[in-house]
Amino acid sequence: MSFSSRRRNYMLTPHRRDGLIEWMKHMLQHSFVLDCLAQTAPTTFQHFEELIDEHRMLEGDDTKISKLQILVPTIGTFHTPLPLCAAFLIYDEKYSVTSRRHVTLSFNEIRQILNLSQVMALCSPFHASPPTHTPSPQIGLSITSPPPSPLPSFTCPKIITFDGDQTLYSDGSNFESNPSLASSLHSLLKNGITLAVVTAAGYEYSTSKYALRLTGLLKYFKEKGLTEEEAGRFYMFGGECNYLMRMNGEYELEAVKENGPGGWITSTKHLPDTPGNWSPTSITSLLSVAHTSLTSSLSDMKLPARVILKKRAVGLIPLPSKTLPRECLDECVLRVQSALHEKAGEFENLPYCAFNGGTDAWVDVGNKRVGVEILQAYLGLLPTQCLHIGDQFLNTGNDYAARTCSPCAWITCPGETGYILKKILEIGGATTMISPTTPRSSLSKSISLGDMTRRASVEQCDPSVTSDRSRTEAVMDVYTGEILPPSKKPKT
Ligand code: IMP
Ligand code: MG
Repeated sequence: MSFSSRRRNYMLTPHRRDGLIEWMKHMLQHSFVLDCLAQTAPTTFQHFEELIDEHRMLEGDDTKISKLQILVPTIGTFHTPLPLCAAFLIYDEKYSVTSRRHVTLSFNEIRQILNLSQVMALCSPFHASPPTHTPSPQIGLSITSPPPSPLPSFTCPKIITFDGDQTLYSDGSNFESNPSLASSLHSLLKNGITLAVVTAAGYEYSTSKYALRLTGLLKYFKEKGLTEEEAGRFYMFGGECNYLMRMNGEYELEAVKENGPGGWITSTKHLPDTPGNWSPTSITSLLSVAHTSLTSSLSDMKLPARVILKKRAVGLIPLPSKTLPRECLDECVLRVQSALHEKAGEFENLPYCAFNGGTDAWVDVGNKRVGVEILQAYLGLLPTQCLHIGDQFLNTGNDYAARTCSPCAWITCPGETGYILKKILEIGGATTMISPTTPRSSLSKSISLGDMTRRASVEQCDPSVTSDRSRTEAVMDVYTGEILPPSKKPKT
């Protein structure tokens, strides 16, 4: 066996760790041990805010490094200031975290405080001012007209982009019956907001396959009704950034024209990473490196899996009724990331995403950064007018890429997505909020301050969201898009 340094098992990449949240946890630990969290935590969160402000001010200045960058080398971009102290006080008021004696603030609680502060920043005009380094939107290059402004009284992001699996529906399931989440999405469309599902799942332009995954949501929209203009503000980006679709007045998804006047590829040609600028040989070469790596991982670890090749993706998926251990999926992803990094020259730095999807591992050509950037350019929006909600923000996840171009909220299940949306509708002052059949009492109860976070942590997964795939009318293998006879049970 060779002992070359390349083969040694260095822990080269810390994974399953978020640098910022870990650091915040560490900073709060001391006060907890001294039993003075109630006195000092607000000022600690205030201090985080100041460090974030300084980091934002220095972004784009290559001659200086922020204090936060030194403390947390993996720190990303903050598109808005974050009112962390105010968010913490609201959270503590509700959950009395500072009165605890044995259990300090957890990773998930800090994550939820960060989410709350991001929603407060985007929904309150005081915080929503764009940072100095934000580039101007390329409105002139976008051939479509920008979406109409949200109704004047509603202050909130102009577009909300969503991951699909585990954000709108449980991993590997479809959006079936979830009236609470569907009602919030419906209200957002009614209030002038643009919504887009930006998912890794790619079935080329087989629009009915994406529609199948959103069956319950599209049905809800149809039942409650939307004008053609409102329906047209609902987009779906499949394969991360490869296949753009939009809802029509009949509540069906249809492909958005790619080329020519108004075509999304033509209008975003100025973005270096857009699919219109990818070379077919680079795509083939990237997919071949990924295929080789995933295939050798499969045999090295004797995984009960198979490797599948699509036009713009390679996936390692479990054999029927098998599950793949998380550690093995992470190993596959870190190996393929390393192979792609080494061979990047072979495919001219094509954007890609190698990620652990929870039950599978994938390499997609393109990523969610490109998907969100295309939507921003196509619709003429600034990063400060956007919010991306997803569940995969570790460096082996696929929502991670969206952090560079959009404010983000990190959720763990569709229940948390629902509470974030309710919070946006509440703080933003939505005017059209109550869907005809939603009892007023239950709605006001469900959106009371802080419920988003409390319920989200209690209901780690809303059972009404989880679906038994045998119940869906048409049975589709969510990995391949293959339509199966009802007797064959896809995935696990
Ligand atoms: P997302 O969470 O909505 O981005 O979806 C990710 C999941 O989509 C993966 O974990 C897969 O189970 C599924 N999927 C289906 N087709 C593809 C593909 O072509 N690339 C990546 N993921 C896919
Ligand atoms: Mg996901």
